[in-house]
Amino acid sequence: MATCELLSSSSSQYSTMGKFSIQKSPVIDQLPEMVPSHSNVNNNVDDTTVTGKQPSERVKVTEEQRLLWLGAAKEAARMAGKEVRSAFYREKTVTMKSSPADLVTETDQNVEKMVFSFFRRKFPTHRFIGEETTAAGVPVELTDDPTWIIDPIDGTNNFVHSFPFVAVAIALSVNREIEVAVTYNAILDVMYSAARGTGAFRDGKRISVSGATDIKESLIVTTAKSLLTPQKMENTFHNLRSLLEQGRGIRNLGTAALNMCQIAEGAAEVYFEFGIHCWDMASGALIIREAGGVVLDTAGGPFNLMGRCMLAASSMELAQTVASGLRHDHKKPDTEEPVFLRSAKD
Ligand code: IPD
Repeated sequence: MATCELLSSSSSQYSTMGKFSIQKSPVIDQLPEMVPSHSNVNNNVDDTTVTGKQPSERVKVTEEQRLLWLGAAKEAARMAGKEVRSAFYREKTVTMKSSPADLVTETDQNVEKMVFSFFRRKFPTHRFIGEETTAAGVPVELTDDPTWIIDPIDGTNNFVHSFPFVAVAIALSVNREIEVAVTYNAILDVMYSAARGTGAFRDGKRISVSGATDIKESLIVTTAKSLLTPQKMENTFHNLRSLLEQGRGIRNLGTAALNMCQIAEGAAEVYFEFGIHCWDMASGALIIREAGGVVLDTAGGPFNLMGRCMLAASSMELAQTVASGLRHDHKKPDTEEPVFLRSAKD
């Protein structure tokens, strides 16, 4: 197991083993190449038909396109996963972002770059939103155009500690709907996937939520974040206490994307979290809905992909029970304009 030591109070960078060297943040160095591609080159089959601008002009997405995109997403996730696995037990160079619990490694940045390049080659007109690109200063912008939303390593803290729940999360939004999604546990080699309207799968086998409606029969997945303000700590303790009094227990894998897959495959019944971003939620939102689950905001209202919070459950009844008892922790949204995802039936 790697040892994690903050080696200099004046530096935000440290090494998980051995000696460290202060380096300029690779995020800044990589910025020019990580800026989303808005190229108009069009040499790919799907791009001729999906360039929605106004709702009335939106071209319907076909089954063939979904299959093509899903295949590409799985290929990208496996390629990224190989990179993540090969770095997993090696020394890591770690940089702090907003706090000592908010980290980024070279692998996060390299993998995001690699995945962007992969999709850019295949789909030159597609756009991108990525965790590390955003951290480097590129604003989140979601239009009707096909946009890949990517978290190269969901569970960076786990990755730093070599705790084997680390996901590559990839989703494609078209007309501001998630059309395909994959969440790949790169260490345990488990692939969750979904295409809109066609169900959710784990390694090719169909999965579904447990369907539980009673909190007394529910496992609840959530995170208790470190280093919060006293008020936020209070809210966290309140929520944990109330759910421990009602449910069967609380779990957390340390990756939002894999937490969501536990609801999708019926291993747990409720998941909620405050403070997460669109790249943490996009793949899981589709996978849960395609598995028959419910995805809302934490107050029990419509789910806003940009709203920085999610409440997912195996049934609407359960989701509303939990929503009604939660103390909320509001964060600045990823974009001012909300993006409400419709269900596959709409
Ligand atoms: C984090 C993980 C974690 C969640 C944090 C996320 P990252 O994503 O999903 O479980 O609690 O809110 O930021 O930074 O490891 O990609």
